[in-house]
Amino acid sequence: MKIFLDSADIDEITALSDTGFIDGITTNPSLIAKSGHKIADRIAEICAVIDGPVSAEVTATDYETMLAEGRKLAAIAPNVTVKVPLTRAGLQTCRTLSDAGTKVNVTLCFTSGQALLAAKAGASFISPFVGRLDDIGQDGMGLIEEICSIYANYDYATEILVASVRSTQHVVDAALVGADVVTLPPKILTALYQHPLTDSGLDAFLQDWAKTGQSIL
Ligand code: E4P
Repeated sequence: MKIFLDSADIDEITALSDTGFIDGITTNPSLIAKSGHKIADRIAEICAVIDGPVSAEVTATDYETMLAEGRKLAAIAPNVTVKVPLTRAGLQTCRTLSDAGTKVNVTLCFTSGQALLAAKAGASFISPFVGRLDDIGQDGMGLIEEICSIYANYDYATEILVASVRSTQHVVDAALVGADVVTLPPKILTALYQHPLTDSGLDAFLQDWAKTGQSIL
């Protein structure tokens, strides 16, 4: 499973880029706004640090303007993936950009029917928001399972990118159902490798080692 970082914070991205497990980045208008930087500048900075797909989201709501924005964002760097909302105009934009060879991430997906249409529109990625569904008492991971089955039935190449991740359990569940990608806020990524028994176990090993007076080097 690929791991993307859900962030527009260049310091966070740079700090985690040398771990070797960041396969791409997702941003959205809220994350860009939080960064306080111009979208083109920030996306260019991120693409200089990360080789994998970097999602940059359009903000227009009509097809023509969305398409123009998508083309402008795609021109920033070869690894930009244009992110469009799951609306009629977004799906039309997805079709046009995908036909021209641009990768598209269709975002704000909350139903399997929407995911089916995104695949038919040629999306490279579909982004179902599991956390926001859980927040309203629905089954976010159940949606991922359904989309996995539907895409497998028809061999769709669209990758299922699990978004709005709130916990490490979401990551494990996404892997269990066979999602292609999870996009994680940095704190969830960090939480994935941390465990109190790892820390206490390491402390005990190092204390015992110190008593031996040995050095490996
Ligand atoms: C990523 O593509 C999404 O924009 C993001 O995961 C949304 O997460 P949120 O629901 O925590 O804002």
